[in-house]
Amino acid sequence: MSSVAARSLLQASRPTVLRTAGRQIRLSSTASKTLSLKERLAELIPKEIENVKATRAAHGKKSFGPVVVDQLYGGMRGLPALIWDGSVLDADEGIRFRGKTIPECQELLPKAPGGSEPLPEGLFWLLVTGEIPTQAQVDALSKEWAARAALPEFVEEILDRCPPTLHPMSQFSLAVTALNHNSAFAKAYQDGIPKKDYWGPTFEDSMDLIAKLPNIAGRIYRNVFGTGKLPAIDATKDYSYNLATLLGFGENPAFVELMRLYITIHSDHEGGNVSAHTGKLVGSALSDPFLAYSAALNGLAGPLHGLANQEVLLWLKKMQSKIGEEPTDQEVKDYIWATLKGGQVVPGYGHAVLRKTDPRYTAQREFALKHLPEDKMFKLVGQIYNLVPDILLEAGKAKNPWPNVDAHSGVLLTHYGMDQMQFYTVLFGVSRAFGVAAQLIWDRALGAPLERPKSYSTAAIQKIFENKQ
Ligand SMILES: CC(C)(COP(=O)(O)OP(=O)(O)OC[C@H]1O[C@@H](n2cnc3c(N)ncnc32)[C@H](O)[C@@H]1OP(=O)(O)O)[C@@H](O)C(=O)NCCC(=O)NCCS
Repeated sequence: MSSVAARSLLQASRPTVLRTAGRQIRLSSTASKTLSLKERLAELIPKEIENVKATRAAHGKKSFGPVVVDQLYGGMRGLPALIWDGSVLDADEGIRFRGKTIPECQELLPKAPGGSEPLPEGLFWLLVTGEIPTQAQVDALSKEWAARAALPEFVEEILDRCPPTLHPMSQFSLAVTALNHNSAFAKAYQDGIPKKDYWGPTFEDSMDLIAKLPNIAGRIYRNVFGTGKLPAIDATKDYSYNLATLLGFGENPAFVELMRLYITIHSDHEGGNVSAHTGKLVGSALSDPFLAYSAALNGLAGPLHGLANQEVLLWLKKMQSKIGEEPTDQEVKDYIWATLKGGQVVPGYGHAVLRKTDPRYTAQREFALKHLPEDKMFKLVGQIYNLVPDILLEAGKAKNPWPNVDAHSGVLLTHYGMDQMQFYTVLFGVSRAFGVAAQLIWDRALGAPLERPKSYSTAAIQKIFENKQ
C-alpha cells in the first residue's frame, strides 16, 4: 500500500464522530451536562444500535479481503475478525483512543489539581462515550469509584491466605474471579433479564470491577512484599492517588502522576490483543464481567503479553549485574546478541501489529526526561533503544525491531522504589480493565453474539486444496 493510501486509510479510521450511514450522530467533545456516565450511555446506546444496523445493511454482505491459510496457522495475524470502537491501532502511528492520540489525550482530558497527566477517569469516559468529559463528570466518576471500592470480606480473606510465593497475577485473577459472587449481571440473568437490558447490570459490574482493583492490587502488594497495613480509600481523591496510596507511594506526587499516565496509556490497545480479546470472548458466553476479566488477566500474565514488563526489568537487572550500570555500547550489543543466541526474545521489543516505536514507550520516555533524566537505568534503556533495532534487523526474524510499552514501564516504577518486578503486570491489569470493561458494556448493549470461529484440521486443508494450485 502506498504511504498516501495508508494515510487516507488512517484518516478514515479516525472516529472523531460516530456516523449513521454517513450522517454524523454525535460529537467529539461532550455537550452533555449529565454527571452520570450511565445516563449518558443510555442516551447514546439507541443511536449506536441504529448506526450498527445501518452499517450492516449497507456493507454486511460485502467481502472483507482474502484469508490465506497461513493466517490459520499463524496466530490469526491481520485477520479482520472483531469490531471495537474504543481504540484503533495503526501499525505506524500507534494507538488512538476514540480517535485521539496519546498526546491529544494528555492535552484534552481533565487533570487533577496541580497535575499535568490525564486522569484515567476521563479516559474511561472517553472510551465508553467517545466524548471528552468535563472536570465535573470526571470528579463524579472518582467519587463513584471510591464509593464502590470496598472488597467483600471473603475476597480479602482469599488474598490474605495466598502464599506470598503465588505470583501476584495469579492472586489478582483469583480475587477478580471471586468478585463474581456479587455480580449484578449473573443475578439479573438468573432473574430473566431481557437481552436488550443486558448492558445495565454489565455496566454496574464493570464499575464495581474497576473501583475494587486498587484494593485488590494494594492488598496483594502489601501481603506479598510485607509493606505494612492497607490504608483506607480517600473519597475526596482521584483513582490514581488512591491506587498509589494503597500501594504505599501516595506521598510522592510524581509517582501519583506516573500512575495517572500509566493507567491511561495501558488501558486499551484495540480489540485483538490477548487480554482484550479474551475478555470479549469469555464475555460473549454471557459470563459476567468479573469472570470475563479474570480470564483476560490470565492472558495478560503471559510473557509475550503483559508479563513482558516484568521480563524487561529482569533482563535489565541481569545485564547490569553482568556488565555494570554504565556499560559501553559494545558490551550492551554483546549482551543483546547473547540473549538472541540463547534462543530468547529481547523483552520489550517487537509487536504483532506495530511497525514503529510504540507511542506508549515515547510517552513514558518523555515522563522520564521530565522527572528522572539522570536515572542510570533510564539512561541504559535509552542506550538499548539505540542498539536493539539494528541488531533485531540484522538477526532478521522480528517483523518489528522497535520497542513496545513494556520496554519502559519498569524503569519508571523502579526509580520510585517499586522494584518488585513480579508486581508490574498487576498494574498493567488494573489499567487494562478500563478497556475490557468499556468493550464488555458496548458488546452487551449492541447484543454481540457468542464468538465461535471455525477451526480446520491439517488434513482438511490438504484435501480442500488437493487439486488446486
Ligand atoms: C510481541 C511479540 C510476541 C509479537 O510476536 P509476533 O507477532 O509473532 O512477531 P513477529 O512476527 O515479528 O515474529 C517473527 C519471529 O521474530 C521473533 N521475534 C519477534 N520479536 C522478537 C524479539 N523482541 N526478540 C527476538 N526475537 C523476536 C519471533 O519470536 C518470531 O520468531 P520464530 O519465527 O522463531 O517464532 C514478539 O515481538 C515478542 O516476543 N516480543 C518480546 C516480548 C514482548 O515484548 N512482548 C510484549 C508485547 S506488547
